[in-house]
This record gives sequence, C-alpha cells and structure tokens, in this order.
Amino acid sequence: MELRPGLEGVPVAESAISYIDGQRAILAYRGIPVEVLARESCYEETAWLLLKGDLPTQRQLADFDEQLRHHRRLKYKIKDLIKCLPETGHPMKALQAAVAALGMFYPAKDVSNAQTNWESAIRLIAKIPTIVAAFHRLRHGDDAIDPRDDLDHAANFYYMLFEKEPTPAVRKVLDACLILHAEHTMNASTFSGRVTASTLADPYTVVSSAVGTLTGPLHGGANEEVLDMLDEIGSVSNVGPWLDRALAQKRKIMGFGHRVYKVKDPRATVLQELAEHVFAESGKPLRYQIAVELERIATAFLGPKGIYPNVDFYSGIVYAALGIPKDLFTCIFAVSRVAGWLAHWLEQLQNNRIYRPDQIYIGKKDVPYIPLDQRP
Ligand code: COA
Repeated sequence: MELRPGLEGVPVAESAISYIDGQRAILAYRGIPVEVLARESCYEETAWLLLKGDLPTQRQLADFDEQLRHHRRLKYKIKDLIKCLPETGHPMKALQAAVAALGMFYPAKDVSNAQTNWESAIRLIAKIPTIVAAFHRLRHGDDAIDPRDDLDHAANFYYMLFEKEPTPAVRKVLDACLILHAEHTMNASTFSGRVTASTLADPYTVVSSAVGTLTGPLHGGANEEVLDMLDEIGSVSNVGPWLDRALAQKRKIMGFGHRVYKVKDPRATVLQELAEHVFAESGKPLRYQIAVELERIATAFLGPKGIYPNVDFYSGIVYAALGIPKDLFTCIFAVSRVAGWLAHWLEQLQNNRIYRPDQIYIGKKDVPYIPLDQRP
C-alpha cells in the first residue's frame, strides 16, 4: 500500500459538476466555461446549473429566484444566537455555528426525500449571506439589516452589509465574484462536505463541515495575504526592488502559483477585467496599480516555471475596494461556494458509499500493559 500525502492524484469520486484543465486555463461548470458564466449569467442561474446539471428555463429561474428571495430571512432565535457570539470571534466561526444551528430549526434528516433536499439547498443558499451580514453588523454594534425582496442575490448581500444599494458596476463585480468561486472540483472543503454527506448526515451538517474546512489558511484566505504584501510594497516604483529582494530570499509571491493551473488562472483574468470596470468609476486604487506592475515584472521571472496569478491575486483588491473588511473575504467565498458544496452533496447521495479510507499503521505492536504501581 502506497501513501499519497494529501491524496494528491487519487480520485475520490466520479463527478459531473466541474472540470479544470490547468494547462489551457479552463474551468467549466457543467461544461460551460466559467468566464462565459461570469460575463453572461448571474449567481442564481449558476447555482441552479451546478445543482441541477443544466441551465434553467426562464420559468425555472424565475421560480428559483423567488424561492431564494423568500427564504433569506432568519428566525429571531438564529439572530439571537448570532448576537450572543463574541464580536471579536472570526466571522467564519460564526457562520459555521449558525449553519449548524439551522439544522435544529429545519430538520432534514431524511436525505432520501428529494423535495426536502431541494428545500434545504434553497434555504442554505438564501440564508448564508444573511448570516454573514448579520454577524458583521452586530459585531460592530449596529442592527442587522433585513434582506430586501426587490434585490437580487448579490445586490441584497451588499445592501445587508452596507445599508445601501450597490452601483450597477459594483453589483456586477460582486455577482461575478460569487460565480467565479461557486465551484472548483475536489478541493478540501468540498471533499470534507462529501465525506460528511457519505454518512447520510443532514445538509446543514454537511455545509457546516465544509465551512469549517474552509476556515484553514491553506484553503481560503490567501487574498488577505496578497493585500498585506501589496501594502508592504507600498508604491509602484518599489515593485522592482521589492521583487528582487523577495526572489533572492526565496519568498513566495502571494496570489501567484497554483497546484492545478500552470498558466494564468482563468478566474484571475475575469476578475481583473471586472475590476477595471469598477475602478473606471472610482479610480484605480494604489493596491491595484502595484498589483498590475507586480504581475508584469513577476511573470517574466516566474512564468517560465508555470507560476502565474491565481484567483486570489485580484479578488482581495476588489473586495477591499468595495469596502469589505479583510476578515469577511473567506465568508464571501462560503456565500458563493455553498452552491458547489450542495451540488456535491446531492451527487454523493445519488451513488453513496460511506468514505472509509485505509491507513498505514506505523505505531508499536504487542506492548504489554504495566499496572500503574509497577511503572518506573
Ligand atoms: N512565488 C514564488 N515561487 C513560487 C510560488 C510563488 N507564489 N509558488 C510556487 N513557487 C515555486 C516554489 O518556490 C517551488 O520552487 P522550487 O521548485 O525552486 O523549490 C516551486 O514553485 C513549486 O512550489 P510548490 O509550493 O511546491 O507548488 P505547489 O503546487 O505545491 O503549491 C501553491 C501551489 C498555491 C500552494 C503555491 O504556488 C503558493 O504557495 N502560492 C502562494 C500562495 C497562494 O497564492 N495561494 C492561493 C492558491 S489559490
């Protein structure tokens, strides 16, 4: 038996949800390239596509959208629970706790019931943005803002965070960010959700497992480090000298490199285009100018090694420019990725076998038990 650390290269499921070609910069959801979806679709439609396998008809999308809007509100007990959490705690932990608690209010134990499963999926996608926004407002001593039924998913999320509607360009970039992060094959949080799903646990437990896995700095979170790095560089003219020093010290350039992509991450390309639209309104922030220069110079050195910007290189800059605080970045990832997690949950249930991998035992054997009073 050969151990493959991190299960690298070991398939753990057959999946028809998303596909990556890391040499050709392709990420496709149900066969549709993600950049096409980011340009043409909206998060609601993309979520349906991931969950159901095909694009919805007009009628299906309208019904789905209405259902999502209908289920955005939180029960007052969930709001009370969120209020009781320490305001200094990380928002991802608040999200995980609240998602787990949802499962006590909306029992969904019978995962063989397709109708209940669909209702749970809608509830989770609809309520997670409300939970994130409520925790964010309450921790600053502000009232949580009720969702607005007249706004779409992205615009309503922005409204619940800031109590104002986004401009069309800001709405579009936020919606596209949600589309771009909605699914990414068998990553750690998706796998953790599938493992939990394989025990036939309810979907709230499945999603809270996945949220917990996403909290780790090796998974969500590199975009925060990109911002720190850009702030450390400080000016466009310092990019060259800073990079020389960083490469000499064998430092990693945050937001560069990917286990799967050996060319520029297609999501980074889309995000950059969208960022340009937003910045056309508000002016290019210094961080963005530094990032563009860093990409230009660093690519000359790192490109030949297959190291290019990944999705995190521009996402943090965009979020920060929208006024979103750094510790909410991973929550936005979860607001989006819940669609992918739920698609994998439903797929796992179609052909389920409980995950029970093996191990290579390297501990002691045949150790005698020495009574306590005879031990040295
Ligand atoms: N900057 C400079 N060099 C990098 C680099 C980066 N961002 N990413 C990888 N490299 C170099 C490594 O130093 C190593 O060089 P060596 O062979 O001379 O020692 C080589 O490329 C392989 O790196 P490794 O970390 O083993 O690749 P990986 O596939 O395991 O790692 C990442 C992928 C994403 C973890 C890695 O590229 C990284 O840490 N990037 C920065 C953090 C980041 O942006 N994470 C978000 C990912 S979406």
